[in-house]
Amino acid sequence: MNGAPTPPVNLQAYEALAAERLPRMVYDYYAGGANDEILLRESRTAWDALRIRYRVLRDVSHRDLSVTIEGHRLDWPVIVAPMAFQQMATPEGEVATARATAAAGSGMILSTLSNRTIEDVRAASNGMVWFQLYIYRDRGITAELVRRAERAGCTGLVLTVDTPILGRRERDLLNGFHVPPEFPAPNLGVDMRSTLGAQSDMSSALAQFILGHWDAGIAWQDLAWLQSITSLPIYVKGVVRGDDALLALEHGAAGVIVSNHGGRQLDTAVPTARALGEVADAMAGRGTLLVDGGVRRGTDVLKALAMGAQAVLLGRPILWGLAAGGEAGARRVLQLLRDEVDLAFALAGVRSPAEATRDLLA
Ligand code: FNR
Ligand code: LAC
Repeated sequence: MNGAPTPPVNLQAYEALAAERLPRMVYDYYAGGANDEILLRESRTAWDALRIRYRVLRDVSHRDLSVTIEGHRLDWPVIVAPMAFQQMATPEGEVATARATAAAGSGMILSTLSNRTIEDVRAASNGMVWFQLYIYRDRGITAELVRRAERAGCTGLVLTVDTPILGRRERDLLNGFHVPPEFPAPNLGVDMRSTLGAQSDMSSALAQFILGHWDAGIAWQDLAWLQSITSLPIYVKGVVRGDDALLALEHGAAGVIVSNHGGRQLDTAVPTARALGEVADAMAGRGTLLVDGGVRRGTDVLKALAMGAQAVLLGRPILWGLAAGGEAGARRVLQLLRDEVDLAFALAGVRSPAEATRDLLA
């Protein structure tokens, strides 16, 4: 061996690299979950618990991983999840993520808590970019953010509904988490710092900001209101029940993202790998169905498609890639997972996402 360090061979190895490189406060904010982090751990083990009944003698010499999501052709069924404050991982922040996802033939959902503007992120990618938002008490702020996303060229909105109040992140409390003051939050619609005085501790500022600005009182008619002010398709993110998925469709949503915010909100909620089947059965092919939470292997993506999702969102591993090497690191993470998805398809006797059906799961 020439003594050079072996590059990470999987997504978990990227987390270890990021843990070495990120300040403890930042790593813990990215990695952490709510309360005892039981759901954080189960989000991963629930995928491992599923078993694959692979097919044989299906001529898998040619495989096509591409999918079309709301008119967007993706080279493979993975979209990068919305995650806040990505400049804490790399100076280019969400612009690096946008470039990496476009190069990977993936799509991207931009967090409303991003450090880079919607406009810069949109300009950095020729691929699919959706904008994720919450509904403010001041509906005018929400409407203006929607206008900005439309003008910038975002082609979808993601309404996150599992965060009426921020979950309790004990790592952040112990670390006194705060976003370094040099990093802006330009897509919030209001200046987080100015509304909270000279608050330096962003975690309490963040929790207070959410308490003070996002409307914990939203209900299903507010989804209908949001749809009434835009022609963009709206995807409801944070659903884990079939009845809620049907309510989302009934109130105008184009689709649902089965998610529990990566275990960062309600600890001991149901892992998405165990919730997805119920939601897929309820939706019965109506609308777009995506899923996230704990996806780290190509076999997880295969299992999610077999259970009925059209595509999967990938969260934290992107942050680990950014921390390890900026845009190049994120591209490497996406390439590693894409290679794993392709291999999982081949070994399962699956040549396209359409062939990933429920009978594959034991
Ligand atoms: C998130 N997530 C999130 N979701 C959202 O709708 N808006 C947001 O601003 C954020 N911010 C955020 C920050 C960080 C650091 C993390 C880790 C996550 C949740 C995210 O979109 C996704 O649901 C989970 O991260 C998926 O789980 P994995 O892939 O990270 O295990
Ligand atoms: C989080 C919020 C900001 O998970 O979405 O940190």
